[in-house]
Amino acid sequence: MKQETTTIAAEDIARQQGFCQDLKNRFLVGNTTPTACVDTFGCQQNVADGQKLMGMLQEMGFTLTSDTKTADVVILNTCAIRDHAEQRVFGNLGALKHNLKQNPNQIICLCGCMAQQERVSQRIKETYRHVSLVFGPHALWKFPELLYNVYQSKKRVFSVAPEDGTIAEGLPIVREGNIRAWVSIMYGCNNFCSYCIVPYVRGRERSRAKEDVLEEVRGLIADGFKEITLLGQNVNSYGNDLEGDYDFADLLADIDKIEGKYYIRFMSSHPKDATYKLFDVMAGSEHIARQLHLPFQSGNNRVLEVMNRRYTREKYLDLIHYAKAKMPDLVVTSDVIIGFPGETAEEVEDTISLVAEEGFDALFTFIYSPRPGTKAAEFPDPVSREEKQVWFDKLLNVQNKNSGIRHQAYVGQTIEVLVDGESDDEEFPLTGRTEGNRLVRLKGDKNLIGDFAMVEVTGCNTFALNGVATPN
Ligand code: SAH
Ligand code: SF4
Ligand code: F3S
Repeated sequence: MKQETTTIAAEDIARQQGFCQDLKNRFLVGNTTPTACVDTFGCQQNVADGQKLMGMLQEMGFTLTSDTKTADVVILNTCAIRDHAEQRVFGNLGALKHNLKQNPNQIICLCGCMAQQERVSQRIKETYRHVSLVFGPHALWKFPELLYNVYQSKKRVFSVAPEDGTIAEGLPIVREGNIRAWVSIMYGCNNFCSYCIVPYVRGRERSRAKEDVLEEVRGLIADGFKEITLLGQNVNSYGNDLEGDYDFADLLADIDKIEGKYYIRFMSSHPKDATYKLFDVMAGSEHIARQLHLPFQSGNNRVLEVMNRRYTREKYLDLIHYAKAKMPDLVVTSDVIIGFPGETAEEVEDTISLVAEEGFDALFTFIYSPRPGTKAAEFPDPVSREEKQVWFDKLLNVQNKNSGIRHQAYVGQTIEVLVDGESDDEEFPLTGRTEGNRLVRLKGDKNLIGDFAMVEVTGCNTFALNGVATPN
């Protein structure tokens, strides 16, 4: 049976706009230049959420700033994926407390995935009493009302009740620049990989209606955006909760019909739900970048099973071999966890051999971090951090060699690059991305920024290609 997804009613969103106006007229009226800072941690979904928070703040009359010291409102939009991410935020909260001596009226808010964990919200309640507002991802759409309540009541406000989650359409968004844009096509996750906190803090999987996604993408292309990345924790299960059998590949095919010169990217894909149909659509499309981020996490079948990933090494290899056969120029990247509880040195070798054999263009490697509340956090974990670091470094060495070889293969070629900004390198003053999302530093005229250029690749290192824009 399909799950019921609740969409927030348009009048409830309109009510929030009312709170924006009230804040502006009642509380911020005397302050001619109220400023707000949104500091976002974590993945692109959180970045997309941060852009909505900025949109709401602008409606309230705030000018956005990156200066946490002077801002009237500071929002830490947090990530809970690894312990390190949380420690950074607690560090920032300490610094903000210190700063309150200079800026005593500052309102400090904590939101995002950390806030949705009871363990964290309790700690904030008890020990970080200078934080005025705490809300989880589920309450993002009613941020105006929550901030209004903080100003009105002069009391601390917490909105962190667990829920399955909703879909809120029509929130304002402040995008960064007008070259690349993020579009969430779904929220939440149902997969419960045993190490992962996301399903506990982001709720159940829910897909936006296809018309809403298509309308947003059409609007972005009409506004001149050149690269649009569709976001979801597992975009391959898009549509599972909607009526009918319209799936992610169908959505991509429909987006591809929109005319213009642009790239479509998407992330993340879960191998258990990736289909040949998806790769067929990619291969036959005009706009879908020949790039695939397909995290495999481990190359060992026992570890994959205890991770609850629900695919095997063989299934994973079959998928990427199929995709590469359909698209020989496909750029494949992946995520890997090293040091999962109970993982042995031999099992790590299976991960290393997969990386050595498949030659990923880039790999995001993480040492396992126990997340309280997840299954894996209860598993015995006898291997020391030092030993895990040795395994990690070994994997990284293999990958760095791979990246070097892959980058070297571009040298001498002329390739299409989306030029997106300026670099601080004098010799190669512009930056861009290839269709495969490789970073390029290039020589060329500034007015290329925001457009596609043909670039002759003249050199490289492990993280970037260097090149020269060629006259067309
Ligand atoms: N939904 C995405 C990934 C989201 S998190 C997917 O399934 O592909 C991004 C990456 O962080 C994961 O792919 C995983 O490699 C890593 N990660 C997640 N939980 C972790 C943990 N507890 N410790 C270390 N790495 C973790
Ligand atoms: Fe986490 Fe797995 Fe969901 Fe990705 S698919 S967000 S790793 S539970
Ligand atoms: Fe972090 Fe939440 Fe994203 S935990 S990785 S910000 S979904």
